[in-house]
Amino acid sequence: MKRRQMIFGIGVVAILVALFTWNFSRGRQSTSTSQSQSTTSSQTTTASTSLQTDSDLSGDNDVLVVYFSRTEGVWNGPLEIGHTKVIADYITNATNADQYEIIPAVAYPEEYEAPADQAREEQEADARPAIANELPDISGYETIFIGAPVWWSEYPMIVRTFLDAEAERLADKTLVPFTTHLGSGLGNTQRQLESQFPNATVLDGFTVRGEDKTVQNAEGDITAWLNEIGVTK
Ligand SMILES: Cc1cc2nc3c(=O)[nH]c(=O)nc-3n(C[C@H](O)[C@H](O)[C@H](O)COP(=O)(O)O)c2cc1C
Repeated sequence: MKRRQMIFGIGVVAILVALFTWNFSRGRQSTSTSQSQSTTSSQTTTASTSLQTDSDLSGDNDVLVVYFSRTEGVWNGPLEIGHTKVIADYITNATNADQYEIIPAVAYPEEYEAPADQAREEQEADARPAIANELPDISGYETIFIGAPVWWSEYPMIVRTFLDAEAERLADKTLVPFTTHLGSGLGNTQRQLESQFPNATVLDGFTVRGEDKTVQNAEGDITAWLNEIGVTK
């Protein structure tokens, strides 16, 4: 009898141990499954976030935002993002546009005064400073925003390099100037587009003072302006 009880007891213990082990390993499996599910879902989130960002800055409609901006050698700089670029990004997002940055082949000096002199000399010489990056194919775009800081009341001459290089294709587009400035507003930028491209439609431009807070808070004004000129997503 005692022997039978002992065998029965050992059997019960063995079953309990087996059940515990099975349950424990299931628990671990289900934890690691949910971990891997959560990894997958966080990967999905990351992927869709980066897609979202991509589509924000690389739209598929017929609007292109061209801009020149600097982070060094600007008033109250150095900046993390150039004042004009902040505005370019707002316009790009609001219109689901593509973007092209004009990058100088030779960077402008980093102090505030030196580029001011250089810009003046370039203007007096009617220079066309070289652009480092490949020009975009603008043939598929209807509306092209062209933005820059005002330099001595005008577009920086490197923007004129872009305008001249693309003159044929810009001739019948809708062109929209935008600037940041420290007092001159749009300066002569809109007039420059109107006189160089008499057959283009030049819409009223946007301008804002090149101060950190002011440019960062400009999104509402930009949306209102885009509605006014009828260029939206
Ligand atoms: C070379 C140079 C010339 C400038 N000329 C003018 C000007 O004529 N009128 C004006 O309002 N601001 C002028 N500024 C100020 C810039 O337009 C202003 O700081 C702008 O927001 C800079 O933009 P960014 O940060 O995108 O480069 C000039 C700045 C520089 C460096």
